[in-house]
Amino acid sequence: MKIVVSLGGSVFGNDVERIREFGRVLDTIAEKNQLFVVVGGGKLAREYIGKARELGASETFCDYIGIAATRMNAMLLISAMKSAAKKVPVDFLEVEETSKYSKAVVMGGTFPGHTTDATAALLAEFVEADLFINATNIDGVYSDDPKKNKNAIKYDRMSPAQLVEIVAKGSMRAGANVVIDLLAAKIIERSRIKTYVILGEPENLLRAIEGEIIGTVIE
Ligand code: UTP
Repeated sequence: MKIVVSLGGSVFGNDVERIREFGRVLDTIAEKNQLFVVVGGGKLAREYIGKARELGASETFCDYIGIAATRMNAMLLISAMKSAAKKVPVDFLEVEETSKYSKAVVMGGTFPGHTTDATAALLAEFVEADLFINATNIDGVYSDDPKKNKNAIKYDRMSPAQLVEIVAKGSMRAGANVVIDLLAAKIIERSRIKTYVILGEPENLLRAIEGEIIGTVIE
């Protein structure tokens, strides 16, 4: 299978043992699959973007700083993997080149204006992935933010159109921490990319690939 994994920055963390474990699991997945991983910026991105904003940087420039942080995290993950190419592609055309000689390609962000969820969804579209896994800090897609609404229900399955509707509703709230960004949801919808949204724990990646339903399946 051709698999794209979006590994959220908050999920990835900066604990060496955790990163080692992600690396081990991803190497196992790359043994039998063509693997593409997009890593988020997490704490590093937030810290640097915060400081740049205070210094008066534009939002676009802050995005470039965020992208640099995602690439630093990508390099950390590469350090923990045996199967990954050392090169961090800066766009999808470079991914294509890199994947010719490597079973696993790890990258960060690409262009300002969105998060690595959208980068990963675009990559899944570009490489015609069989499966897109969004490993995030919540265990699936809910009808509303479960931290704020106790009656929110978790979906085991949903259509891409339903995903777009829920994400669009959530994005309207200030400071909203939506499960996947709206652009990513739209890409999933337009190309009907089979997507799993799962809690980003290393063993969950293996379980999801073995077909266990542990989060939300979008198809
Ligand atoms: P993330 O994807 O990590 O965003 O990219 P996030 O919302 O902080 O997600 P989590 O919490 O890590 O899961 C960090 C920042 O890098 C910039 C954006 O500013 C984003 O907020 N970025 C990232 C881009 O501009 N383009 C990209 O393709 C990726």
